[in-house]
Amino acid sequence: MRLVRLVANLGYGSQKEVRGMIRDGRLTSEDGTPLTAESRLDHRLIRLDGEGLDPGPGMVLMLHKPFGYTCSTSDPGRVVYELLPERFGRRNPVLAPVGRLDRDSTGLLLMTDDGALLHRITAPRSHVPKTYEVTLARPLTGEEAAVFASGTLMLRSETTPLAPALLEAVEPCRARITIVEGRYHQIKRMFAAIGNHVEQLHRSAVGGLGLGGLASGKWRLLTQGEIAGLFESEAE
Ligand code: URA
Repeated sequence: MRLVRLVANLGYGSQKEVRGMIRDGRLTSEDGTPLTAESRLDHRLIRLDGEGLDPGPGMVLMLHKPFGYTCSTSDPGRVVYELLPERFGRRNPVLAPVGRLDRDSTGLLLMTDDGALLHRITAPRSHVPKTYEVTLARPLTGEEAAVFASGTLMLRSETTPLAPALLEAVEPCRARITIVEGRYHQIKRMFAAIGNHVEQLHRSAVGGLGLGGLASGKWRLLTQGEIAGLFESEAE
């Protein structure tokens, strides 16, 4: 791909602005040689003001979503894109959240510009496990694990039962739950279906990948190994 389009597609500026960067000698090869609009270079070898460029299409990042941020730019209020470099919001193909977390949920949100990967993780038939830490309004009764594991629980206004989910009690009002689907408000609706109410919801892992020490509001790129690893724990 031509340099101008390549750099513009990464969100660094409009094509006009990128031409300006070339004129100003800000786009160079690794050894500092200025590039021209005709240059065709693997983008890993391109430098802008001496710095490497962001990864090209196929980028996946994890964000530790804080409370109060929405995943969709069409919702009012603060959006997760505000926590990322501004240029990420101008990428083409667009960077999109991999499944949503509600405004009042926190935790691990993957984002990618790879539509096929996004689909592979979020499609109803995908069985990538997602783990949530749940704080409940009422103490666990001890019956939840069996109900959730049964594969027969129906949510209101749905026509197919939920796939079996794994629940571990942590404290009287706290549980860890792993699901392999991603239905609308699934965790909150599961607990509502058995007469409880979710007060706090935190996603701690997707496909066995956890947040590690990533602080709330921070993000980092995933390595190729981590991306491949998302599917290793795919439930049968
Ligand atoms: N289930 C929910 O109810 N909310 C989320 O944010 C994620 C899963």
